[in-house]
Amino acid sequence: MPEKVLTNEQISRMVDTSDSWIFDRTGIKSRRIASDDETASGMAEIAARQAIEAAACNPEDIDLIIVATGTPDRVYPSTGCLLQQRLGIKNCVAFDIQAACSGSIFALSIADQYIKSGAAKKVLVVGSEICSRIVDWADRSTCILFGDGAGAVLLGASSETGILSTHIHSDGEYEDLLYCPNPQAASGTNRQGAGYIAMRGNEVFKVAVNTLGRIVDETLDANSMDKSDIDWLVPHQANIRIIVATAKKLKMSMDHVVVTLETQGNTSSASVLLAFNEAVRDGRIQRGQVVLLEAFGAGFTWGSALIKY
Ligand code: ACO
Repeated sequence: MPEKVLTNEQISRMVDTSDSWIFDRTGIKSRRIASDDETASGMAEIAARQAIEAAACNPEDIDLIIVATGTPDRVYPSTGCLLQQRLGIKNCVAFDIQAACSGSIFALSIADQYIKSGAAKKVLVVGSEICSRIVDWADRSTCILFGDGAGAVLLGASSETGILSTHIHSDGEYEDLLYCPNPQAASGTNRQGAGYIAMRGNEVFKVAVNTLGRIVDETLDANSMDKSDIDWLVPHQANIRIIVATAKKLKMSMDHVVVTLETQGNTSSASVLLAFNEAVRDGRIQRGQVVLLEAFGAGFTWGSALIKY
């Protein structure tokens, strides 16, 4: 996470809002904001090095890097390639995937297919986002939500633990509810608002709650599991009300839901991996436990990964 903290109080001096409105509607109190010299690839490097160290892995053994980001340093090369170069890894494949807030779940799904097919042995998955650069800081309906950060996980083949299944979906029908026009590619009327997130939050909220309810059922059915088999829910951190609705669907106490949103806001594709990292490192998630990761984002895109840690 970047060091700089931006509180609701500070935002209430920039736009017409208040700490209590933001906290009551979203569960967010503060978020981290990258400094001018921080980049998605730079934050990705810090997260990746922590994952490599935790896994006691030789970076040269990594054969695939997948970076999920909607805020790449450059249109190209990919942030994956920039990260590969930062890590000094010569012989691996690297690319980005773009699935907005579901990005790290999509990346986990791709990594899982590569590993299960034998095409890769060690895959580095990173979600890295500088949302603050695509937020319109004059728009109170979006600028209160987002934060910056990066999360990483290293996956390797194993017969005992790991990803039990992944489920990913897309529906481009909803493109107008949540989008960010690319200022370089936009022309004519599309240039209006180019570079900034635009969202019809209330409508996104309703679709998100319904869709995440369905993905919970789909994941449990695919693994012939009951709700009670899930030890931890690690949801995308968009809004505490969406998270509570998903926990209710699982009949799960909030004590078993990892929530980082209060101090991180919505870090888009980084959020699930940041939350997973926090709960593994502080000892809440224990070896052998079953963890459900899920996310929903622009596209719309949504998905889940069921993990036996
Ligand atoms: N402060 C004070 N008032 C505000 C603010 C604010 N920051 N923002 C909006 N309002 C006002 C609105 O103008 C509106 O006023 P009106 O009734 O006079 O018209 C009123 O508050 C209610 O606005 P809503 O948009 O209906 O508020 P809602 O309860 O839906 O909360 C929120 C808004 C927090 C954005 C919520 O809709 C949400 O979380 N949506 C889902 C976001 C999400 O999950 N996105 C997907 C992932 S993000 C990605 O993929 C990049």
